[in-house]
Amino acid sequence: MQAFNRRVAWRMASVSLLLAVLAAPLAWMLVHAHDEVAAAALSAAALVVLVALLCGAALYPIVIRLSADNERKAQEVLESHISMMEALGRAIAKRDSDSGAHNFRVAWISATLGESMGLAGSKMQELIAGSFLHDAGKIGIPDSILLKPGKLTPEEMAIMRTHVAMGEEIVTGAGWLEGGKEVVACHHEKWDGSGYPRRLAGDAIPLVARIFAIADVFDALCSRRPYKEPFPVELAMEILHQSSGTHFDPSLILEFTHLSKHIHATVMNASEDEARALMETMVRKHFAA
Ligand SMILES: [Fe+2]
Repeated sequence: MQAFNRRVAWRMASVSLLLAVLAAPLAWMLVHAHDEVAAAALSAAALVVLVALLCGAALYPIVIRLSADNERKAQEVLESHISMMEALGRAIAKRDSDSGAHNFRVAWISATLGESMGLAGSKMQELIAGSFLHDAGKIGIPDSILLKPGKLTPEEMAIMRTHVAMGEEIVTGAGWLEGGKEVVACHHEKWDGSGYPRRLAGDAIPLVARIFAIADVFDALCSRRPYKEPFPVELAMEILHQSSGTHFDPSLILEFTHLSKHIHATVMNASEDEARALMETMVRKHFAA
């Protein structure tokens, strides 16, 4: 938007300069005109140039103010995007008694891998929004299943798996949140086709969902859970490698391997506030106009 302001100012300055350049010879010709018709024509031309210059001078502050208003509105929209994602992500996380930190971390990890894979623009926005909202459908899972401490029965597991379809329903038609749909709909698909709900395989799984799947499992392995201590990064990567080509896209695992130590050191020991700050930096980078 600042670039837009500079463009507008530059164009107006160029037009003013052009008019000034035209005005100077007109003024000279007017002074030296000998016949009345020529003098009248030159007067009219000089008047037109003068009026154009005055209009330009009057419009300049208005145009600048309008573009500043646009800049402020774009900033407000960006802030509301961030707040909306944070609020929804936190609401979803609270349903299964987690803090919002998991969502901040997985979104940041996904975005870091996405950047490394060359994703940009709307695809990065889809990846970030989808990472925040991936488990939106858990809102519709009964507490008796979602919070059950023990192993789920096959019937309970079938109900738990419906969180994917419910999540899809929640984000469909929800404006810019719908951008997260590919991640929400496909975050439990597996590279070899053994995932759910559609049993997609390989490249049929959207790239953003394949990226997210790695971030989600890496975060789970390296986080503390009631039943386990955080795994060291080397062990987490060993486990991810064992599932390369079955659960995960092998080319993404290769790329993630180069990033894993940096990602682990940056985000896995971060507090919720630090993880939020990291994520906000990523959101501002990829959602700013
Ligand atoms: Fe899920």
